[in-house]
Amino acid sequence: MSLRLLPLLVYLTICTSCAAQPDQSPEAGSATYTFKAPSPNGTGKYYLGREISYVMGHLAADWLERPEREEEENVSQAIENMDIQADERIADIGAGSGYYTFRMARKVPRGKVFAVDIQPEMLDLMQQRIEGEGIKNVELIRGSETSPKLEANSVDLVTMVDVYHELSHPRETMQNIVSALRPGGRFVLLEYRMEDPTVPIKQLHKMSEEQAVREMESVGLRLRENIGNLPWQHCMVFVKE
Ligand SMILES: C[S@@+](CC[C@H](N)C(=O)[O-])C[C@H]1O[C@@H](n2cnc3c(N)ncnc32)[C@H](O)[C@@H]1O
Repeated sequence: MSLRLLPLLVYLTICTSCAAQPDQSPEAGSATYTFKAPSPNGTGKYYLGREISYVMGHLAADWLERPEREEEENVSQAIENMDIQADERIADIGAGSGYYTFRMARKVPRGKVFAVDIQPEMLDLMQQRIEGEGIKNVELIRGSETSPKLEANSVDLVTMVDVYHELSHPRETMQNIVSALRPGGRFVLLEYRMEDPTVPIKQLHKMSEEQAVREMESVGLRLRENIGNLPWQHCMVFVKE
């Protein structure tokens, strides 16, 4: 095995020890989610035919910040794809250690990035960086499993990088995100390509375009473009009409 894949293995190992367990009881029997015996790395909770993955624990924050990430994922290109304007208000949902958040914040000198996460340890990491570097345009929000707790019609762009597949309540979370987007606002979804067997990521951490479109259309988002210039990920731009 190539040494290049070692960090990935660390990440996957930490993922299976997961930060949050699926909340089974309140929704059992509901139409939105169904429950089956979990697959080897899955939660057993299904949404529109897809098994939801476990949440990545904060102990994997180093993996998110790995130096080779820029090359592996062409992060600069991914951010270019988002077509960020200098005065935009952005919400980065599942911001983690802030790897994308702080890079996007540099693009909005007259705007703001709301960095949302459900794990306080991730928010602590970002707070340290905000204080250490004197960053003024990043605001931290502790979201819940069902809501990023943003105001209605308050943001131009919502981003989710390597997060969506692990949302424990994708329907409720996305309904709240759609409400937070201004009309015409964009939702940029980066997910590892399920269609490409050479992408070295577990199946449950990948998503096909077809599945993503099914799930986004169910909350009223339309796919404007899937930008195919990233090595491993779909870069799907959805719009709120
Ligand atoms: C794999 S990490 C990705 C972090 C970051 N987007 C990046 O690419 O570096 C996924 C993050 O999503 C967060 N997360 C999971 N479910 C969430 C939810 N419902 N709302 C907000 N954050 C969530 C996790 O706590 C974790 O920090």
